[in-house]
Amino acid sequence: MINELMFVHKILVYIFFIFLVAGFAMPSMINDAYKFKKISFIYTMTFQALASMVAFAGLVVLYAGHMSWDVFSVSMVLAWGMMMFIEIKKHRLIKYADLTHSNNFAIIKQGFNKISILQVLIIVGMIGIMSLKNMGVFGS
Ligand code: HEM
Repeated sequence: MINELMFVHKILVYIFFIFLVAGFAMPSMINDAYKFKKISFIYTMTFQALASMVAFAGLVVLYAGHMSWDVFSVSMVLAWGMMMFIEIKKHRLIKYADLTHSNNFAIIKQGFNKISILQVLIIVGMIGIMSLKNMGVFGS
C-alpha cells in the first residue's frame, strides 16, 4: 500500500516537472497582453493544483508510512513552500503589470522564463537529493 502511495507521489512530482518545462513555451506563444494575463492566471491555478496534489500525496506517504519528519521531509516541505511563494509573487506581478507597453511586456516575459528556470531547478534539486538518498549516499 505504501509503495503505491509513494508511486503516486513520485508520478505527481514528474507530472509537475513536465508541466513546468512545458510552461517555457507559454511566453513565446502569446503576444496579446490580455490573453497573456488570462493564460498566466490559468497557469498559476494549474501550478497550485498540481503542487497541492504533490504535497497531499507526500503527507499521506509520511503519515500512512509512519515516517518521521526527517531532514528530507522538511526539505521537501521547504522546497514546496518556496515554489508556492515564488509562483504567487509572479502571479501578482503579472496581474498588476501594465502590459500595454511593449517594454513592460518583454520584461515580464523574461521574468516568467527566469522564474520557470528557478522552479525547475528546485524540483530537479529535490529529485536529485531524493535519488541520492534512495541510493544510500546519505547512509541508511
Ligand atoms: C510538501 C510536502 C511533501 C511531503 C510531506 C513529502 C513527503 C515525502 C515522503 C515522506 C517521501 C518518502 C521519503 C523516504 O523515502 O524516506 C517522499 C519522497 C519523495 N518526494 Fe516528497 N514530499 C513533499 C513534497 C515534495 C516535493 C515538492 C517534491 C519535489 C520538488 C518531492 C519529491 C520527492 C521525491 C523525488 C521523492 C522520492 C521518490 C522516490 O522514492 O523515488 N516531494 N516525499
